[in-house]
Amino acid sequence: MEIREVAVVGLGTMGAGIAEVFARAGIGVVALEADPDALKRGVGILDASLSRAVSRGRLTAHEQAEIRSRVRPAGAFSEAAAVDLAIEVVPERREIKRQVFAELDRVCSPAAILATNTSSLSVTEIAAATAHPGRVIGMHFFNPAPVMRLVEIVSTVLTAEGVPAAVSGLARRLGKSPVHVSDRAGFVANALLLPYLNHAVRLLEACYASREDIDLAATAGIGLPMGPLALLDLIGLDTALSILDVLHGEFGTPRYAAAPLLRRLAAAGRTGRKSGRGMYDYPAAGTDKASSNGNVAASAAPDTVTLIGSGDDAEADLATALATAGINVTRNAAHPSDLIVVAATARRGVLAAALAAGRPDQAVGLHMAGDGFAEVVQTSLSSEQAITSGTALAARLGRTAVSAPDRPGFLVGALLYPHLADAVRMVQDSYASAADIDTAMTLGCGYPQGPFQLLDSAGAADVLAALESMHAAYGDPSFAPPPLLTEHAATGIAFRAADS
Ligand code: 3HC
Repeated sequence: MEIREVAVVGLGTMGAGIAEVFARAGIGVVALEADPDALKRGVGILDASLSRAVSRGRLTAHEQAEIRSRVRPAGAFSEAAAVDLAIEVVPERREIKRQVFAELDRVCSPAAILATNTSSLSVTEIAAATAHPGRVIGMHFFNPAPVMRLVEIVSTVLTAEGVPAAVSGLARRLGKSPVHVSDRAGFVANALLLPYLNHAVRLLEACYASREDIDLAATAGIGLPMGPLALLDLIGLDTALSILDVLHGEFGTPRYAAAPLLRRLAAAGRTGRKSGRGMYDYPAAGTDKASSNGNVAASAAPDTVTLIGSGDDAEADLATALATAGINVTRNAAHPSDLIVVAATARRGVLAAALAAGRPDQAVGLHMAGDGFAEVVQTSLSSEQAITSGTALAARLGRTAVSAPDRPGFLVGALLYPHLADAVRMVQDSYASAADIDTAMTLGCGYPQGPFQLLDSAGAADVLAALESMHAAYGDPSFAPPPLLTEHAATGIAFRAADS
């Protein structure tokens, strides 16, 4: 069927973005929002996005005017009577969705497709409550909708033949990559993303690391486009909370239980970018985010350090890096004032070496995790001065650094490895294939590499060892390594190779 005109119901951040995507593809859009103020705000979001594209030279003023002319703001459902497809983008509450579908059932032709952009609710349940369940389908976009390429297409046992193909074709016409997923809470991308974001909030809540360092560990340490806390602000803390509650309701495991801090911030109205305050504050233009080691100058780095290692590659690499940066390296920990730097590795913490050196207050670990990035690992005995010197040292080595506690996984591993374990569990439970999960996370969340590509390059054995240490240290069942990971670590078979 040909889709010439659509209705987008709900003009929040996602709705406005989806309306823009349709209009850019030459499709007429009835932009429906019952509340006049919300309608005005939604149209403002769309206009700002188009103006930004013009100012970046991505659109001409003429194209902007053409796109804009395809969007018809409307306040009444009757305006959607002639559309070929209506997509609902209202808050994640069953009763609101039910009312919207009742209205769409009333006004739209029975031939029109009714889509929901729900991020977690059951599409089957939504469909079953309508007059023509066969035409109801999930069409799940990712934020920012004009940028992210993934659209999850969710059919149900009630979906009529032809509807999934029509909606996939439409997604391709929009320049998106449709992926068919089954109707389970969170589908694929959110089921994996949300527990990771929630875990980041738990780390913040437990003062495991600072807000900025958590985000920097994800961007500079893992290579993700945004840190988890900044991403929560983009998604909306209230939206994230609703998704987690649905996931927790469906699967029950503690990993989905929303962190109390997330719940409190959402309750306080600190919902993220849309309200101007969330994990960060958003003054009118830009954010006040600061990188954590930007204010520790490389010039404050010591000229001589005492290096301690265990004769492995980590020690050799660190010794080379220190020498290249012109720093004198001694091996004599008895020298009274030098900073002691322990060459930390994911498998070996810092405290034992710091104690053995006899001056644990003057010792920090340096974990050179990836190119241009380091974790400055502090034990419970490291002095402020040692931490500051260690951070300056990392800067002098040309590394972006975060402060991490001397706990299993330090900071990057503490964030990443449970996320990878979740991905493995999804494959283990036949939720999705490793390749599909990688596709979902690269196209939907901008990961430069999918979780299984990350896992394969980190090595299943190392990820397993870190998870085992985390599980032993905290007893948290979320850190228990899934058997499938143990099998891959034992056989040495890569996930992606095994999958293809
Ligand atoms: N609306 C429209 N366009 C936007 C935009 C927005 N809100 N934000 C950024 N863009 C565009 C910019 O105009 C720019 O376009 P151009 O290259 O054509 O000029 C491009 O995106 C890159 O933007 P920037 O240079 O300003 O910024 P970055 O390079 O830092 O990219 C980002 C910004 C695309 C948001 C990137 O950080 C990213 O991919 N982040 C991850 C986002 C993510 O994970 N989304 C999924 C969340 S989960 C979800 O939505 C599901 C839901 O159910 C909760």
